[in-house]
Amino acid sequence: MAILVTGGLGYIGSHTVVELLNNGFEVVIIDDLSNTERFILKNIEEITGKKPVFYPFDLRRKELLTQVFDAHQIDGCINFAASKAVGESQIIPVDYYENNLFSLINILQEFKTRKISNFIFSSSCTVYGQADVMPIDENTPLKTPESVYGKTKQMGEQILIDFAKAYHSKISLLRYFNPIGAHPSGKLGELPIGIPNNLVPYVMQTASGIREKLNIWGDDYPTEDGTAVRDYIYVVDLAKAHVAALKKLIDDPSSDAVIDIYNLGTGKGSSVLEVVKAFEKTNNVEVPYQICARREGDITIAYANPDKAGKELHWKSETSLEEALRTVWEWQKYLKTRNS
Ligand code: WQD
Repeated sequence: MAILVTGGLGYIGSHTVVELLNNGFEVVIIDDLSNTERFILKNIEEITGKKPVFYPFDLRRKELLTQVFDAHQIDGCINFAASKAVGESQIIPVDYYENNLFSLINILQEFKTRKISNFIFSSSCTVYGQADVMPIDENTPLKTPESVYGKTKQMGEQILIDFAKAYHSKISLLRYFNPIGAHPSGKLGELPIGIPNNLVPYVMQTASGIREKLNIWGDDYPTEDGTAVRDYIYVVDLAKAHVAALKKLIDDPSSDAVIDIYNLGTGKGSSVLEVVKAFEKTNNVEVPYQICARREGDITIAYANPDKAGKELHWKSETSLEEALRTVWEWQKYLKTRNS
């Protein structure tokens, strides 16, 4: 079965392509290379010994997308392609709405005309905003996300729910908490282009001397050590959840709409300071930091109740924070040799 993976050379996309190939799926990747580099494709081939088909174009090019569906028997899609920098989304909102939503709609137009089902959507815990109760499960009420990025995720979910109902299609909305880590081979990982927005790539670059100091955005939150708490999930565990969610849709014989929704996290919260200390201890490095004011739009705390994915997908996150952070340091060492 050929699965279309949009954004398949990106961080979570590339790790998911590896798991799909290892599970015997054929993979067709579309990636505009705006937030990744082409060598990732070669590394996927080295890790799996298989060659996914790759098309380098922007999903807003409808005519090119139609050609891909004409050329391949597509049986499902995992849609990662989106702009995802929370801060940037506040500065160029129209570009975020256009890219994230037009790309999604173009794929759904093809799914509609060709009566294709099995659509997995890369969503985010950001759709919950600051939830009132922890841990966060799938019945937790959604709130208007703080960022335009989060709003595009919430709108994307709504578009897919309406699509599934209208066309009796099978969809799965995967709400990630905070993905971290790199592939155990050391050949795949988060490729921050420019100054990293997210915590772990910034910690990685500070430890390796690329950044002078980590800014910790606020230590006056109502948490144990005053820094904000998140649920940091290892990227390979997250990738495996995508294969499990896809298999569930494919195996579901229902001819009615299927709308699966899963929170994908470890179920454990870690503070910013805990992540920094764990990184230093695990990798025997120093991460100099300074406490700064809170970052606009940040929430205090978010961690998942992953029981539903456990029960229905027979999936759970198995990798510790320390192990995930060890793979990050291995990846940074790989990047250093690549760039030298
Ligand atoms: C985590 C914590 C920061 C950087 C966002 C999106 C989510 C997902 C992951 C895409 C926060 C603190 C960070 C730094 C810091 N997006 N921090 N110094 O904001 O929880 O989630 O990225 O996949 O949908 O909402 O992740 O890593 O940016 O921040 O102190 O230099 O680390 O304030 O408390 P976030 P993050």
